Amino acid sequence: MKRSLMLPSLMFALLATAATVHANEPAKAAYKGDAAKGQPIASAVCGACHGADGNSVVPVNPKLAGQNADYLFKQMTNFKSGPEGKPERTNPIMNGMIAAYNEEQMRDFAAYFSSQKQKGEIAKNRETIDFGQKLFRGGDLAKGLPACAGCHGPSGAGIPAMFPRIGGQYADYLEAQLKAFRASGADPKDSNGRANDPNRMMRMVAVKMTDAEIKAVADYVSGLR
Ligand code: HEC
Ligand code: HEC
Repeated sequence: MKRSLMLPSLMFALLATAATVHANEPAKAAYKGDAAKGQPIASAVCGACHGADGNSVVPVNPKLAGQNADYLFKQMTNFKSGPEGKPERTNPIMNGMIAAYNEEQMRDFAAYFSSQKQKGEIAKNRETIDFGQKLFRGGDLAKGLPACAGCHGPSGAGIPAMFPRIGGQYADYLEAQLKAFRASGADPKDSNGRANDPNRMMRMVAVKMTDAEIKAVADYVSGLR
């Protein structure tokens, strides 16, 4: 009897403490973005390359539809700035395109594109589908290549907030990004590289991959949904 009374009162004490701590914190939650506010510029300006609903029709321009919002926002921030005034992710088009927009607008664009439904692709190369699937699901133990699915999810849909959707994306774009991570992984000064991955997660994956593996996994992943 005594015990059953003690437990609730202890919990009440803990909850009360938690509430006090919370009340003392500044009430400033991160702005999540507003899809409706982002839509006009996102569709008209960004849409020229990425498609009005984020389903780009040109394989070098990535699809943004259905991508996780935190990832989209991070990329915009990385295109905009970085240490020593140099953008953390370099791309001549995007470095220019994003310059005019502030943080709130970028959150709105991210909210808009992530709320759209992605139209997937179909894997094109039948001979490499099994190989691509094997790499995606299991990696390659012998050379320490981790499974893509471990971070990007079993269907490539990504895991918010850090891991982007890669399923259904254009194979050409996926291939180009894997090669850019690989270039930076091998030579941090490579100007065509991409080095904005937290904790070098993608560079460590990509440096272990051959051209043939990159091609096979990119084609397979583009067909995932
Ligand atoms: C003139 C064409 C063009 C326009 C306009 C454009 N983009 Fe891009 N965007 C690109 C290209 C090309 C890439 C791929 C860059 C690369 O290969 O690294 C890209 C990449 C991105 C990415 C990274 C996607 C990913 O999967 O990592 C985001 C986010 C993005 N753009 C957002 C925007 C937003 C928001 C706008 C409007 C303010 C915009 N873009 C306007 C061409 C464009
Ligand atoms: C240890 C976790 C991890 C593993 C394993 C991993 N990734 Fe990633 N990947 C990430 C993270 C984190 C990012 C986002 C980097 C950033 O913030 O710019 C990313 C980004 C990417 C991108 C860029 C997406 C875009 O829209 O630009 C591609 C392509 C990609 N990964 C493909 C793969 C493939 C293919 C594999 C398997 C061979 C793989 N990844 C394995 C963590 C991982």
